[in-house]
Amino acid sequence: MSVGISKIGFFAPDEYISLAELAEQRGVEPGKYLIGIGQERQAVIPLSQDVVSMAANAAKTILDDEDRSSIDMILFGTETGVDNSKSAAIYLQQLLHLNSNIRTVELKQACYGATAGLLLAKDYVTLHPDKKVLVIGADIARYGLNTAGEVTQGGGAIAMIVSANPQILAIEDQTVHLSEDIMDFWRPLDRREAIVDGKYSTEVYLRFFQTVFEEYKTKTSLKLNDFGALVFHLPFTKMGLKALKLVLNQVDEENQEKLLSEFENSRRYNRQVGNLYTGSLYLSLLSLLDNTKLSEGARIGLFSYGSGAEGEFYSGLLQKNYKNHLNIARMTEWLEQRKKISIAQYEEVFNQALPKGEEDFNIESNVKKGQFYFAGLKDQKRIYRAK
Ligand code: ACO
Repeated sequence: MSVGISKIGFFAPDEYISLAELAEQRGVEPGKYLIGIGQERQAVIPLSQDVVSMAANAAKTILDDEDRSSIDMILFGTETGVDNSKSAAIYLQQLLHLNSNIRTVELKQACYGATAGLLLAKDYVTLHPDKKVLVIGADIARYGLNTAGEVTQGGGAIAMIVSANPQILAIEDQTVHLSEDIMDFWRPLDRREAIVDGKYSTEVYLRFFQTVFEEYKTKTSLKLNDFGALVFHLPFTKMGLKALKLVLNQVDEENQEKLLSEFENSRRYNRQVGNLYTGSLYLSLLSLLDNTKLSEGARIGLFSYGSGAEGEFYSGLLQKNYKNHLNIARMTEWLEQRKKISIAQYEEVFNQALPKGEEDFNIESNVKKGQFYFAGLKDQKRIYRAK
């Protein structure tokens, strides 16, 4: 029996900024952002969205009644939790009308949380093949206006259903992980913005990738040639490209071109949205699957990295007719219909203070009780935490 990803849903708010315009405002050569960093647009996260509302929106796009009755665990990977005690996952049980006898847990290790959720879910479903697990990766990436990290912000949510006999990707058993206590990126409890040493973090990321990838090959006797594509955690898309280039010389020129071309497919959506932290690797996977011509049985290698630091390399096999389960039209339509806002508008949104207590929330009793409400927007319902 195989176990893996049956469905993938994505959500990010509609507003974005152009990074060419940000470059102009910051007095930077646009080529640095567009080519040097590899980002083109960045999602702007309004105060009305948090990781719970974004996760619920992402999950809403994929859940059907059969999923609702089979899901008995939510594993919510995030480093932008809404409470120091209460798990972000517990809100979803009610918002998504799931059974009340399910487990709801939040997992934290920087951008690695969703991978922890996915691989724990795989083991769980292997033991309980009649059950499904909802795995979330949702975050808001914030560094601050006029900081070096500003161009690598973003946010959004990925929701995945893990089940037996998956429709999209069967996860293979062998994985290799590495963890070390490293201060490359962290966010003390009283801060909304992360502290990052971006260059050091890139060095650690590349070292972790090489270490786990080489060990994975040794353990499995697989070679780079055995992969149709490698997908990476993408804080900014140039970072994944740097990692791929470290190993490309292991294959001939023709295969180098194929892997580079699949990398272009896998970074397409991340270039348009920015960093999702826990969700970035899985947005990249979705981008690959939407845009590639790889067929059933192709092996995809996945490199997950969470600063601090944890790295893991694992792989999956594409399933028959996987494209039919991706909801491509919605993604393409959404990318085209988003609304560009000016850099001044973005700065205004960015500087809005978080609500401090009940008195700051603008929606009466339901938010005060810690619940959420649904607001109609265009043809789609969106969930907002506060106005
Ligand atoms: N045209 C093309 N390329 C250019 C141009 C230009 N005009 N100007 C500069 N570049 C290239 C540079 O050569 C460099 O390329 P390289 O990396 O291949 O050498 C690249 O643009 C970036 O230039 P830098 O001077 O290194 O940029 P900066 O000092 O502003 O920092 C960085 C960039 C490190 C990515 C910064 O934005 C950052 O720290 N971001 C946060 C990254 C992060 O999140 N790290 C944690 C990872 S884990 C996680 O997801 C949280």
